[in-house]
Amino acid sequence: MSYFRKNIEKMEGYCPGEQPHERDYIKLNTNENPYPPSPKVIDRIKEGANALLRLYPSPMADPLRKKAAEVYGVQQDNILAGNGADDLLSILVRSFVNEGDFVVLTDPTYTLYDTLVTIQEGNIFRVSLTDDFDIPEEFIKRDAKLTFLANPNSPSGTFIPVKRIEGFVKGMNGVLVVDEAYVDFACETAIPLIHKYPNIIVLRTFSKSFSLAGLRIGLAFAHHDLIQGMTKVKDSYNLNRLSIAAATAALDDIRWMEDNVAKIKKTRESLIVSLSTMGFKVYPSQSNFILAKIPDRNLRDVYEELKRRGILVRYFDTQRLQDCIRITIGTDHEISVLLREISRIVK
Ligand SMILES: Cc1ncc(COP(=O)(O)O)c(C=O)c1O
Repeated sequence: MSYFRKNIEKMEGYCPGEQPHERDYIKLNTNENPYPPSPKVIDRIKEGANALLRLYPSPMADPLRKKAAEVYGVQQDNILAGNGADDLLSILVRSFVNEGDFVVLTDPTYTLYDTLVTIQEGNIFRVSLTDDFDIPEEFIKRDAKLTFLANPNSPSGTFIPVKRIEGFVKGMNGVLVVDEAYVDFACETAIPLIHKYPNIIVLRTFSKSFSLAGLRIGLAFAHHDLIQGMTKVKDSYNLNRLSIAAATAALDDIRWMEDNVAKIKKTRESLIVSLSTMGFKVYPSQSNFILAKIPDRNLRDVYEELKRRGILVRYFDTQRLQDCIRITIGTDHEISVLLREISRIVK
């Protein structure tokens, strides 16, 4: 499947109501946050919408890096800001992977890793996760140039403790990328490992817990030598002025994000209980989505029927995942509508 087609699927229903043929969907397919960003973020964007927009932004997004260094307990030169975590993924693959280089991915995981490494003509080694989406030992390949670990993983939502990640990085000569897009919905971060190991990069995004998917902001944390290498590859001004201002304001109001995360985790737990009662197997999730399965039943029809009824969830047409759907945690109201419709469809 081409990259373009994959992304069309990912964007499905991305702008409810804005296109003439579209309707207002309950959108539970791309793991956005159902709650709005902090009012302080909106104020800062409004303040920033002024005549200074004629000037280029800070090339390294310095106000954001300064604030992020304080919040996450690192130095400013341990941070690179990106136009979303996807921009940072693209930068790091272009920085480290040449034709024929060996790259380790888990299967399944976030599909963009595969696309980016394929564009660079890297040589992908896929490590199949266990039935419960745990990491098998062969994940550690000493000679891999890059190894990707989404933690929590997508689409499973499962989480690997940081102690185990430390064991992985110790066994690698290449770089381990820990993609923590969903970590605010989990319990611990690998960021402190960057002080001990020169070959680990931890990625964060403002698209999920901070409710800022529309602005495109991500951060990479690593030893400053890695950050320097990646800086050479990035576009000169990869974050715009308003995104820098908004992300800095979001970090000034962490409490707002934490309150939204707490609501989402509560809804997540009740969704897991309700789906389990209906006969789904739901994997333990430490993210803002869950993966639900009816063993040996292809759930394409459930996904399509939900779509007809105005609810978008994610279906993966692969051997391993076709008996699953991935559902983003929405508001309590959205989830109660989803549960009502699912119960009618699967009965
Ligand atoms: C594991 C993972 N990494 C990165 C991203 C991309 O984040 P961003 O919106 O910051 O580009 C996503 C988005 O869904 C994701 O699931």
